[in-house]
Amino acid sequence: MLMSSQHNNNHKENNNCVRHHASVSRNRREKLNNHKSVNLWFTGLSGSGKSTLAHAVEEELHKRGCRTYVFDGDNVRYGLCSDLSFSVEDRSENIRRIAEMVKLFLDGGIIALTAFISPLANDRKKVRDLLGEGNYLEIYCRCPLEVCEERDVKGLYKKARAGEIKNYTGISSPYDEPIDADLVLDTGGGQSLEECVEIVVQMLEEKGVLTK
Ligand code: ADX
Repeated sequence: MLMSSQHNNNHKENNNCVRHHASVSRNRREKLNNHKSVNLWFTGLSGSGKSTLAHAVEEELHKRGCRTYVFDGDNVRYGLCSDLSFSVEDRSENIRRIAEMVKLFLDGGIIALTAFISPLANDRKKVRDLLGEGNYLEIYCRCPLEVCEERDVKGLYKKARAGEIKNYTGISSPYDEPIDADLVLDTGGGQSLEECVEIVVQMLEEKGVLTK
């Protein structure tokens, strides 16, 4: 396994790269799309409903003619981040790479929906700082551990309890509950999927990402 310090080589100063400035700007793309680009960052325990909600929101936005893309563990950890484990260092690197990718998608005029546990407040803060205020909207999918464990969609909690999976979030690895999320949704049964989608879309209207 590569260590994050190796992943994180900073080539900014000496790799002889010179940025090409595109004439087609984010602003022009947003005008063409008739909506702003933004990152909806869904965070929560495994089984809290992040991916389900992200895809349901995407469905609604797509129907409204928005350009969207959902990133989650399944499409990122099999490719771009297939070399990463679930150690604290590798989770941070996972989030760092996703954030850099999302930054490009924002420039591309896309509404990027990301569904990652992203357990550490410090890693989430780095994403907020990288993308900038207004570009990053954090949505905490609040669902009690007992409910996630009861659902155990992938059977991984059972394995984690049996000690077959190490560093499992909520069991043997920490999850920092967000204290400054833009939205907190009770995905443990308190609010229906439809209600949650409506609340997210309403937030996008209020923030001027979508026109009403
Ligand atoms: S993150 O912590 O780096 O943000 P990510 O969202 O990419 O995690 O991946 C989480 C998914 O990987 C879980 O939903 C679960 O299916 C799977 N997984 C496998 N091992 C673990 C583990 N040790 N802790 C948490 N999730 C795991």
